[in-house]
Amino acid sequence: MPSLDDVIAAETVLSDVDGANGRLIIRGKPVEELARSATAESVAALLLEGFFDDMPKGQKLATAMGAARLRLFRRLQPHLAAIASLSPVEALRAGMALIPDGDDLDTALMLLAAPVVLTPAIIRLRRGEQPLGPDPRASQAADMLRMLSGVAATDAASRALNAYLATVCEHGLNASTFAARIAASTKAGLVSAAMAGISALKGPLHGGAPGPVLDMLDAIGQAGKAEAWLRQALGRGERLMGFGHRIYRVRDPRADALKAALRPLGIAGASGGRLALAEYVERAALDVLHKEKPGRPLETNVEFYTAVLLDALGFPSDSFTCVFVAGRMPGWIAHAREQEVGGRLIRPQSRYVGPAPQQAA
Ligand code: ACO
Repeated sequence: MPSLDDVIAAETVLSDVDGANGRLIIRGKPVEELARSATAESVAALLLEGFFDDMPKGQKLATAMGAARLRLFRRLQPHLAAIASLSPVEALRAGMALIPDGDDLDTALMLLAAPVVLTPAIIRLRRGEQPLGPDPRASQAADMLRMLSGVAATDAASRALNAYLATVCEHGLNASTFAARIAASTKAGLVSAAMAGISALKGPLHGGAPGPVLDMLDAIGQAGKAEAWLRQALGRGERLMGFGHRIYRVRDPRADALKAALRPLGIAGASGGRLALAEYVERAALDVLHKEKPGRPLETNVEFYTAVLLDALGFPSDSFTCVFVAGRMPGWIAHAREQEVGGRLIRPQSRYVGPAPQQAA
């Protein structure tokens, strides 16, 4: 069945995904550089530049993002208890659907705020705790972590979350971004584009993978059991989550960017044990995959160390896709605007392979 491999469906100024060499450039910057030093605010500035006439710069953008978090929380607070009965990513999608559609900067700021504010609120409600309101003066990453745990985030934790958000902010025409561009190509508006994006992202073959990565590490439990567990999973015809990629023929550069972001966290306890186990399981999985699937370019992808990083930051595994949405949102918005401004309606064709009409006797 065709799946648009090698088809160029858009021209973009946003990112260059070099699958043969394992390189990712986002608006002229290597992903490793963004992972080391970018923040949610600087990533939004980088990706959205040129797509809104009234785009604020520097501290004014950070202030506008903080104000949008507060506006969004006040608007959606009455609905939080109802949506929190859904799974976290479904609850986030339901909350996003309550933002009025539009193509303007205010809609974009509300969309950037939505996963940052709603994810901690949904997690807390599901734990039987009250959601915490945003602090508009805080940075996006520090505020998200404080709304999750109830205590001020450490600098190391905020830096690690910023590293994650920057690493996943944009990645060419992946399934969710393509879905967002298709919705934007009909002029449906930015909320519709982001809803299309989150719906495509949540599947386990795309942004739904990191939760199952953590489940895999927990099921393996200890290094000595890794190889047998991995072989049995492959024997049952299962895929090893966090490995393989449609575009990267070599290691996904984001895997190492995230592994580097884990080190300054100085994680200990359960998370430290998970990191050591993850490093062992990664080596064992690559070994088993290369032996069992020779000739297939199966390497570590972004989701493997995402699982360890988000776990160390205190996010429960069933909410990892929501944090991915927080990272990818500026990419979706930028692609949607690029499509709205310069693109045409996306409308490919299908080839009919069904029955021919019956000839009248
Ligand atoms: N584990 C085991 N086998 C795999 C894996 C894997 N993770 N990935 C691909 N394969 C195998 C397939 O079974 C198939 O083998 P076969 O021909 O012997 O049946 C072969 O490799 C090719 O598979 P395709 O589905 O054609 O490969 P594709 O390029 O479409 O897959 C995908 C890309 C969906 C990411 C796949 O590698 C996968 O399912 N990985 C696990 C899920 C995952 O980690 N997703 C996150 C990706 S990153 C992101 O989206 C942000």
